[in-house]
Amino acid sequence: MIREDIERLLGEIDALKCKTQKEVEEARVKFLGKKGEVTRLFEEFRTVAPELKREFGKTLNELKQTAAAKIEELKNAVGDEAAASAPKQDLSMPGDPMPLGSRHPVSIVRQEIVDIFRKFGYDVSEGPEIEDDYHVFEALNFPQNHPARDMQDTFFVSAGHLNPLLLRTHTSSVQVRTMEKMPLPIRVICPGRVFRNEAISARAHCIFHQVEGLYVDENVTFADLKQAILLFAREMFGAETEIRMRPSYFPFTEPSAEVDVSCNICHGKGCNICKGTGWLEILGCGMVDPNVLEASGIDSRKYSGFAFGMGLERIAMLKWRVNDLRHYFENDMRFLSEFSTSTEV
Ligand code: DAH
Repeated sequence: MIREDIERLLGEIDALKCKTQKEVEEARVKFLGKKGEVTRLFEEFRTVAPELKREFGKTLNELKQTAAAKIEELKNAVGDEAAASAPKQDLSMPGDPMPLGSRHPVSIVRQEIVDIFRKFGYDVSEGPEIEDDYHVFEALNFPQNHPARDMQDTFFVSAGHLNPLLLRTHTSSVQVRTMEKMPLPIRVICPGRVFRNEAISARAHCIFHQVEGLYVDENVTFADLKQAILLFAREMFGAETEIRMRPSYFPFTEPSAEVDVSCNICHGKGCNICKGTGWLEILGCGMVDPNVLEASGIDSRKYSGFAFGMGLERIAMLKWRVNDLRHYFENDMRFLSEFSTSTEV
């Protein structure tokens, strides 16, 4: 009886397999625990005939040792396996960086300008980037043979008929669309992307951004224009900022002017940013030409208006002293991450 049990247990112990430490412990209890099978055999051993005791005692001891050795072996093996299958983690490694994006400088400047004019009561109006000749040129009083219509400047989408499609060369086209559809009085700014067939360099690009402004009402005067630009310049460049207006020419405004702001770097003393003049050019403006009002169905004897237009890249260049226009379009992270979004929401 005992011999058969010993044989069976030896077989079982030999075949023992465990995957976890818990299973090893269960096996130990099963064979070697206080009520375990091997322990039980030792109790049975007391009833064995004295002449057999010697032989059985020896095999029983061997069984106990075999069981203990096997349990020990399993304990170690399972320990190793668990360690081997555990993910190899080095908790001292630095975490994976998750860099936050930031607003593009042109987008930051656009938002600032929109916010300033919103405070002055202006709405935002947008128009299509693919425009027709009528809204970009004709309705803005460009004579048929004006050089800006030339293939040199304009990207045409379709040509060969009276009103070809083209990529707008300025956001003044949105003025026209706004005057066509909005009830008077009109007070809007129109930010947007514009396109010109220019060779790309540090100072020119074929894609850039403008903000157009338009105010049409009864009795709008040049003094109103000057005041609006002065208030804008002071909000944008600081309360000390001065402006000056130089006579200029645009087909869609009469009279027209170019506006300079006092250099906010040298405060008028002259530096390399303002090229020693103390002034920085920021926009073009003027009183909306009566022809332009009439083209959009506005009675120019009753209404008058002013308009202005500025380049966003240029304003951003002045603000952050960027010296090459191409930086804005190359998406180099080293450049883009220079612009804090702390003022953004
Ligand atoms: N459209 C002009 C340009 O692209 C900018 C401009 C000048 C807009 C004078 C205006 C203006 O509204 O009055 O260069």
